[in-house]
Amino acid sequence: MDYLANPQRYTTMRYNRCGKSGLKLPAVSLGLWHNFGGVDVYETGRAILRRAFDLGVTHFDLANNYGPPPGSAEEMLGKALKQDFAPYRDEMIISTKAGYTMWDGPYGDWGSKKYLVASLDASLRRMGLDYVDIFYSHRFDPETPLEETMEALDLIRRQGKALYVGISNYRPDQTEQALKILNQLGSRCLIHQAKYSMYERWVENGLLDILGREGIGLIAFSPLAQGLLTNRYLAGVPEDSRAAKPHGFLQKADITEAKLKQIRALHDIAQQRGQSLAQMALAWLLKDARVTSVLIGASSVAQLEDNLRSLDRLDFSQQELTTIENILAEK
Ligand SMILES: NC(=O)c1ccc[n+]([C@@H]2O[C@H](COP(=O)([O-])OP(=O)(O)OC[C@H]3O[C@@H](n4cnc5c(N)ncnc54)[C@H](OP(=O)(O)O)[C@@H]3O)[C@@H](O)[C@H]2O)c1
Repeated sequence: MDYLANPQRYTTMRYNRCGKSGLKLPAVSLGLWHNFGGVDVYETGRAILRRAFDLGVTHFDLANNYGPPPGSAEEMLGKALKQDFAPYRDEMIISTKAGYTMWDGPYGDWGSKKYLVASLDASLRRMGLDYVDIFYSHRFDPETPLEETMEALDLIRRQGKALYVGISNYRPDQTEQALKILNQLGSRCLIHQAKYSMYERWVENGLLDILGREGIGLIAFSPLAQGLLTNRYLAGVPEDSRAAKPHGFLQKADITEAKLKQIRALHDIAQQRGQSLAQMALAWLLKDARVTSVLIGASSVAQLEDNLRSLDRLDFSQQELTTIENILAEK
């Protein structure tokens, strides 16, 4: 064991209460969707995890299918937990999910109890853990009765394989139903994980209101729009960037001239605020108290550090907010 966590790690991070629960999450959490798979360099991911923990990031988010190949991000975390973080398990919040395609046949996808229970067992084996802190239904399944999916979450929580349960990508009406069923079963929903950034605003149409009213946290994924809301693409598409990689969902075609014009304008405002664009994009999400945490990705320690410095300046003037809205409204 050659890693000793920084004793100062809790001095700079903010911890926000997750809805009306007892659990606090760091304002910035780290996701292992990209950059931590079998195709990536283990030592790079390991260095990011260590630096994150040293800077007070206590929450690490996974899913059964993160990689590529699927499952390899959980294996990577399992290795790092064993090598570096074994003494710190009680200081970490580790989440995983099931809901997207994981294995062949009718039991490796969507929202049946059969799939969710088997998938979490496999995730725990890959990570070498007895339990995760949060287990999510990764997406709403239109064919499985919602009662069954929620019963699976309730069962998993009662078995102690997850301390808390959550949902991800559920629409407002689906969320309301899920919360109701979970409450009836005696299991609260802790958190909703939803895509939210300056470029992806759907949660503002009802979901945030429901979560605020019900005391459920929101963790915002892809808060930097996979790197668009940073300086990454200001001077073209770097070879080592997500948009240049064959796997993944950000395509070169997403980086249009119209987007770049907006990104440059947003970058200018960030500079005037004394921030990087990434920092401003994260601060912009955290201004809403219903957003418990922003769930970033990072391919280097430098990106992680840049993002964490968003916490140095979270306030916005009304004029800045209006200018940002005007830029985002431009097509
Ligand atoms: N529930 C769901 O359905 C769902 C779906 C997607 C994601 N998620 C979760 O959300 C997490 C984050 O998603 P995401 O990776 O799309 O988040 P993101 O923070 O929007 O994008 C991360 C990417 O942006 C670039 N980047 C980050 N910080 C930067 C900086 N300071 N300067 C320049 N570039 C920077 C890097 O791209 P390069 O790689 O090009 O360097 C990095 O890989 C995932 O790991 C996962 O845990 C959940």
